[in-house]
Amino acid sequence: MTLWQDFLTNDQRLIHKWKHYFPVYERHFARFVNRDVVMIEIGCGKGGSLQMWRRYLGPHARIVGIDIDPACALYAQDQIEVRIGDQSDPAFLADLVREFGEPDIVLDDGSHVMSHVRASFEALYPAVQRNGVYLVEDLHTAYWPEFQGGLREPGSFIEIAKHLIDELNADHARGAIDPTAFTRTTHSMHFYDSIVVLEKGRHTDKHAPQIGHE
Ligand SMILES: C[S@@+](CC[C@H](N)C(=O)[O-])C[C@H]1O[C@@H](n2cnc3c(N)ncnc32)[C@H](O)[C@@H]1O
Repeated sequence: MTLWQDFLTNDQRLIHKWKHYFPVYERHFARFVNRDVVMIEIGCGKGGSLQMWRRYLGPHARIVGIDIDPACALYAQDQIEVRIGDQSDPAFLADLVREFGEPDIVLDDGSHVMSHVRASFEALYPAVQRNGVYLVEDLHTAYWPEFQGGLREPGSFIEIAKHLIDELNADHARGAIDPTAFTRTTHSMHFYDSIVVLEKGRHTDKHAPQIGHE
């Protein structure tokens, strides 16, 4: 069963997702299915997405939901942990990593307020496993002032992600930008309607050999 089919036939807790996100999830999360992984979902809503990730990722996955609403504590069950706190609080997020270890997957579906999205990314991206993935969704809010967004608004996560493209390529910038931890630990960045996905991965020595006969 695909994740999309799982969603369409859900008769457990309510899930709230845009339909075009499902191929993106499958594209970036499929390699974690049936593995011993830790997934953090920021924003529990009504608890249904936590259950969906448990069904999708399989019996070895540990799903950690975080939410500012204490009512979400009710959604804990086998393989699903919930911690109550603010996604913009670095101390809360550091405790989370201490408790559950470096996550393989982080999905930000929390407040969608730009300063919150940024704070979570700054705290959690460095902690993501070396081959892990960080996905931020509902980034239409990056264009909306009521979420601290706006076209080319410097603090919007879309603008931050555009700058990170340069950091990703910093090794080739001839000194124009210094390589950073992001350069050294990021394998790829992917842009979709309302979603940015960052895949971690370390590079070995970067060079471009010519192999074969002329
Ligand atoms: C869109 S809902 C999550 C939907 C859920 N992931 C799903 O797919 O069904 C957003 C959630 O983020 C939570 N939230 C809002 N501000 C937050 C914050 N600052 N820190 C953590 N969670 C927050 C809300 O309480 C709400 O439950």
